Amino acid sequence: MSNTNKPDSFDRNHIVLLAVHNTLRRSLHQSIINCDKTYVPDKKTLRNFLGFVDAAMQHLHNHHTNEDVIYFPVLAQHGIKIDHLDADHHALIPKMKEIDAVVKVDKRAFDNLEYNTFDFVSLKTNLEKLRDILLPHLDQEEREHAPDILRASGMSAQELDNVLGGIVKAEQKLDPTISLPIIYYHLDEKEIKEFWEPTIPAVVRVGLFSMFACWNSGFWEFSYAKAKKP
Ligand SMILES: [Fe+2]
Ligand SMILES: [Fe+2]
Repeated sequence: MSNTNKPDSFDRNHIVLLAVHNTLRRSLHQSIINCDKTYVPDKKTLRNFLGFVDAAMQHLHNHHTNEDVIYFPVLAQHGIKIDHLDADHHALIPKMKEIDAVVKVDKRAFDNLEYNTFDFVSLKTNLEKLRDILLPHLDQEEREHAPDILRASGMSAQELDNVLGGIVKAEQKLDPTISLPIIYYHLDEKEIKEFWEPTIPAVVRVGLFSMFACWNSGFWEFSYAKAKKP
């Protein structure tokens, strides 16, 4: 951390990276532990659970798109190797497609879905396979893109600020009733203070967020902040 109270662009980038990665870790963990008839006891709850898992998958997909299109090209320009991380993103696509095939198809055909025969076991297995690739990948990015490594690469603070600005802009094009709650409900208190508050404009945080979160409120009952399960 720099000597001033305010983190510099490199430390700030790392704060954002860790907070967002934690939302990916926790939303996937919540999807896995709740994928069971015990926590999804009826058809109405299943609709919300499928919505939650779909939101977690969209969040992961958007994070990788932002890395591929906005962040990684800047790292590559400064000699930081990204090929192996890019390969992980590609390896995750078929796993995500298998999950989407259950979650999105069943969401669309929900009225005809039979609760009693819903295959929780194979959905959970696919989520676990995704986790086995994703968790080491997130750890590796955090190690390989640490502030001192980016500083030493010759990247400027302005370039890094532009990356964050570009990602915020891309996120603003997403559906805020999904993209904001899936982040907020998977942050801890420290991350809300250090990442959410400086990044999300006050008008959204204070004025609009509760309305956005209300829209699919049943989804978020499975979230890290609300479910309170280990
Ligand atoms: Fe990644
Ligand atoms: Fe990442």
